[in-house]
Amino acid sequence: MSQQYANIVGFGKYEPENVLTNADLEKMVDTNDEWIVSRSGIRERRIATDGEQCSDYAAWAGKQALEMANVAPEDLDLIIMCTNSPDMLTPPVSSLVQDKLGATNVGAYTLTAGCPGWVYGLVQGTAMIESGMAKNVLVIGAELVSRFMDYTDRSTCVLFGDAAGAVLLQATDKKCGLLSYELGSDGSGGEHLILPGGGTQLPPRPENMGNRDDWYLYMNGREVFKFATRTMVSSLDNVVRDAELTFEDIDYFVPHQANLRIIEYAAGKAKLPPEKVVTNVQGFGNTSAASIPLAMCQAYEDGRIKPGQTLAFASFGAGLAWAAAVFELGEF
Ligand code: UT7
Repeated sequence: MSQQYANIVGFGKYEPENVLTNADLEKMVDTNDEWIVSRSGIRERRIATDGEQCSDYAAWAGKQALEMANVAPEDLDLIIMCTNSPDMLTPPVSSLVQDKLGATNVGAYTLTAGCPGWVYGLVQGTAMIESGMAKNVLVIGAELVSRFMDYTDRSTCVLFGDAAGAVLLQATDKKCGLLSYELGSDGSGGEHLILPGGGTQLPPRPENMGNRDDWYLYMNGREVFKFATRTMVSSLDNVVRDAELTFEDIDYFVPHQANLRIIEYAAGKAKLPPEKVVTNVQGFGNTSAASIPLAMCQAYEDGRIKPGQTLAFASFGAGLAWAAAVFELGEF
């Protein structure tokens, strides 16, 4: 078998209809539009309505990616479902997505690696294809982070939103795909972005329910900010160098959408002009593992992202974990 490469041949996304604006949040917590916009760049975010689930969003985004590539669900070899907000602990949300897609006889697993989870999934899907073990791999990022938000905690609830994005990776013998990557983790900082309840340490038992803070996502914004700026700049620099490219060779930088200030800082360090940076944080907030595939799909749909381009990704978040990659798009 000739050398196989993993190309992106399908993009998909799901943007929830329900919009939560900064003005709406002003009525819920002690905050204001000026603070939110100046500190984060966020003006509004999408929030799931009752009854919608993470597996729904993932399946809708995944279906769109499959349709774009004209690949039937049963022709998939693997679904990598990247999320931090699954429908439930068991069964794995990946199996729920596989079922909702009608993808019979397809392997599926859930990948949880904080916000960088989707970049981890992209690297893993590529490895499966380049090794000859798979031909079609769906890599989805989907989040309903709002379900874990404390809407009395102004320091965190204004930042996050819900959405999904997906790509279909497909084997090709034409050279393209992942040129370089970096995956990182520093669990010593785990306490800075944490939801303590629901696991083995604090199982969901009545006697553990007393402290409500244990059941919401808590973030130490200042600490995560320091970690984010440091790792985004260094990992982006490393992957561009490892790909034997310069920043001038990058057509678009698609960063994790946590905070416009962090994105602008990293882009500035790399001397990437604003028109080469894809952002959606202004309208969607931080959609965690969905943020990069969502932003990429939006940039494909509005005509910016095209075959043959070279993209750079960089992400960071809970773990604390980070990931970056350079990816050359083939024909699609
Ligand atoms: O994907 C996960 C990755 N997460 C992130 O990337 C988040 C990284 N961190 C950040 O983006 C920023 O740290 C924040 C946007 C979360 C906060 O910005 P900041 O400039 O670091 O603000 P701060 O946390 O230092 O807070 C400044 C002040 C505080 O008041 P005092 O102590 O100075 O009186 C906060 O209590 O702003 C106050 N504050 C708010 N005021 C109005 C915190 N949240 C709000 C709010 N509205 N929503």
